[in-house]
Amino acid sequence: MKIHYFAIAVALSFLALLSGCKKTEVKEEPSLKSALEGKFLMGVAVNDLQASGVDTAGVRLINEQFNSVVAENCMKSEVIHPEEDRYDFTKADRFVALGEKQHAFIVGHTLIWHSQLAPWFCVDKNGKNVSREVLIKRMRDHIYTVFARYKGRIKGWDVVNEAFEDDGSYRKTKFYDILGKDYIPLAFQFAHEADPDAELYYNDFSMAHKAKREAVVRLVGELKAKGLRIDGVGMQTHLQMDFPPVKDYEESLLAFANAGVKVMITEMDLTILPTPDRNIGANVGRNFAYSKEMNPYPDALPDSVAAAWTARMEAFFNLFLKHSDKISRVTMWGVADSDSWRNDWPVRGRTDYPLLFDRQHHPKPIVAAIIKAASENK
Ligand code: XIL
Repeated sequence: MKIHYFAIAVALSFLALLSGCKKTEVKEEPSLKSALEGKFLMGVAVNDLQASGVDTAGVRLINEQFNSVVAENCMKSEVIHPEEDRYDFTKADRFVALGEKQHAFIVGHTLIWHSQLAPWFCVDKNGKNVSREVLIKRMRDHIYTVFARYKGRIKGWDVVNEAFEDDGSYRKTKFYDILGKDYIPLAFQFAHEADPDAELYYNDFSMAHKAKREAVVRLVGELKAKGLRIDGVGMQTHLQMDFPPVKDYEESLLAFANAGVKVMITEMDLTILPTPDRNIGANVGRNFAYSKEMNPYPDALPDSVAAAWTARMEAFFNLFLKHSDKISRVTMWGVADSDSWRNDWPVRGRTDYPLLFDRQHHPKPIVAAIIKAASENK
């Protein structure tokens, strides 16, 4: 009987040993954020389904793969400040709570922008532009109030978004109509007064254009000359397959770094779909009619097309790795393909494949390619 017990014990410990060995053999897949550690933060835009926990698969990926989050929509003035005397922090609070729970570097987007602008912001009750004094006061109140709520928790802010046209001229927004170019330094001044520790960024699309590059470099110089804080320039990076050339994009990246600010890639995605207008950049105000020809891959991407997409995305990540000393963060504009705004812009109702994770939340081949390139770049 004794021998019998002994034999069982030996067999059990042998099995335990075996399963132990097996465990060490199973390799943990490295995540994007761990592979890129020491190079730049890997960020992602978060929507309300994720912030509220409904999209559990999305939340899992944010947690596993990313170490920075930015608000996709919930901090734009039409959402967070819908009426002059009413703020609505419901969604923004949820977003910040998610970022804190995941110990992510939290970015606020965006304070002063002509799009998704609260309808009351620049006009009086009759719809007429307000005076210079009134708009300055409204900007100050808006920035102070939003900053007061998240002081010390949101680490960096897109203070002004999309102030320039592609030709480098000032975009003729209501802010510009009323205040001229002064609205930009004023916004940076108020933001710094409201939270002296927050990083402050200027953010824009189509940054590979030479004229726009020069305008942004000039702006950085002007802000610095006034003694204002500007920490970074955000290159949105809503890419097309044939535009912009990596070379032009690299020139802008280097020009911004030379201007003495951090470069951040703030809203990256790569559409595979035909674009009605090559120069559309990311102008959210432009829309084109749907047609079947404009939606060529409603079910899946053919292998050769997917391979071309991977190659272009990889070329950009290789560039980021090459200049990782100048780049503080690379943020994807959404978690999985199904989340992307590009399914509906600039043509509504299409099926696009612009992000790093597919509709089942599986990593695309690009994820392993980025991780491999990052490890070879050590
Ligand atoms: C987009 C959002 O992703 C969409 O959900 C929304 O409908 C429109 O705005 N540049 C920006 C982002 O700075 O705020 C925009 O986000 C995309 C272009």
